[in-house]
Parts: sequence; structure tokens; C-alpha cells
Amino acid sequence: MLSRAEVFAELGIGPVWRQRDRQGHASPVPPVSAYSWDQLADAVAHCSACGLHTSRTQGVLGMGDRNADWLVIGEAPGAEEDMRGEPFVGQAGKLLDAMLAAIGLQRGDNVYITNVLKSRPPGNRNPEPGEVAACRPYLLAQIELVRPRLILTLGRFAAQSLLDTDESISRLRGRVHQFRDVPLVVTYHPAYLLRNLPDKARAWEDLCLARRTMQALVAA
Ligand code: URA
Repeated sequence: MLSRAEVFAELGIGPVWRQRDRQGHASPVPPVSAYSWDQLADAVAHCSACGLHTSRTQGVLGMGDRNADWLVIGEAPGAEEDMRGEPFVGQAGKLLDAMLAAIGLQRGDNVYITNVLKSRPPGNRNPEPGEVAACRPYLLAQIELVRPRLILTLGRFAAQSLLDTDESISRLRGRVHQFRDVPLVVTYHPAYLLRNLPDKARAWEDLCLARRTMQALVAA
């Protein structure tokens, strides 16, 4: 069966699917909601929708339980992730594992971990708006495939791009948002927490909020 993207390509009507974000950036990647996991992995591995494909070692799709209740979304692969092809395997990843363990979770078990960008920005610079927009269809496809009960965003880029806002983390945290019909809790990025230890207490509050929210969702 042809995927929706292939059907649209056959029909030659590519540009109609180019939704724009608030800054007017469109992705050259069509909506990929009809993709299977294998098709999605293949699309990310061969993606050249933004300039990052020229400097990355490989695309990093994500890892973990594809039927997870928890979807954790970070910013972009760093140097180690780019080499190993898995998200959050460096120092920030160790802290993420500790954060998950603090609320009784373990990487790969009822948790799926991914990033807003699937390719490493050179020198770990911040993602550019055009790159975030280009990669968005992949993230949306992952959300559709996992169908999580709750999304936990790590850091500013994940929160702002999913909530389509430019509000700061400090203004976004402390309450439950919705991404489409999925509850979404915002917390700090573990790499930020490694440099700003006092904010770990706030991150703990966010994790407790996420855990309480999940408990209520499961009970309902
Ligand atoms: N930082 C991220 O946002 N994602 C990773 O995968 C690693 C570090």
C-alpha cells in the first residue's frame, strides 16, 4: 500500500501539505502520519530536508518502548548521540535516566525517548527555526505512532516547538498543557540542569506533576 506521502507525490501536489509554523517556516517533508515505524526510520536515515544532513553522522530517530505511555522529547542529538545513533546517551542522558528512575521509570520500559531534531546541529549550536520546522513531521509521526498518554518535554526547544509559543520554560512549567489531545508537562533540559544545580528542585516538582498526571490518567 502506498503511504500518504507517496500518494501525494504520485499526484504531484507536494506543496499543499506545507503547513507553516508561527514564524512562517514550512517543512519540505510531507506529513508522514501514514508511515510505519520502518518507513519512518528509513525516511529519517535518508532525510535531506535541512542542511544538517551534510554534517551529521546519522539521523537519530529515537529509542524505547514504541507503545509507551510516556513520550520524552529533548532538543537534538549531541556528539555522542550522533555517533551511536541513540538519543540521550551522553552526560545529559545519564541525568535523564536518573530523573526517570526518580519517578519509577526506566529507559525502554513504558518510555519512548526522542528529540525535536533528528540530526545533530554542528558544535551543538541551538536548532534553527527552519530545522525545527523541517523535522516536525517526523516528530508528529512519532507521536501518532506511540500514542502516549503523556508527553514530557525537556528544555526550551521541545516545549516551545510543541506548544507553538516563545514563552520561557519558567513560565510554561508548573501546569499541564495539551498537545492536541495529549497532556504535556514541561521541564528543564538535563544538560541545563547539569550546569544549574539549584533548578533540580524545580525539575523534581515537574516530574512529580508528570507522575501525578499519569496516575490520574491511568486511574481514569
Ligand atoms: N540532548 C538532547 O536534547 N538530546 C539528546 O539526545 C542528547 C542531548
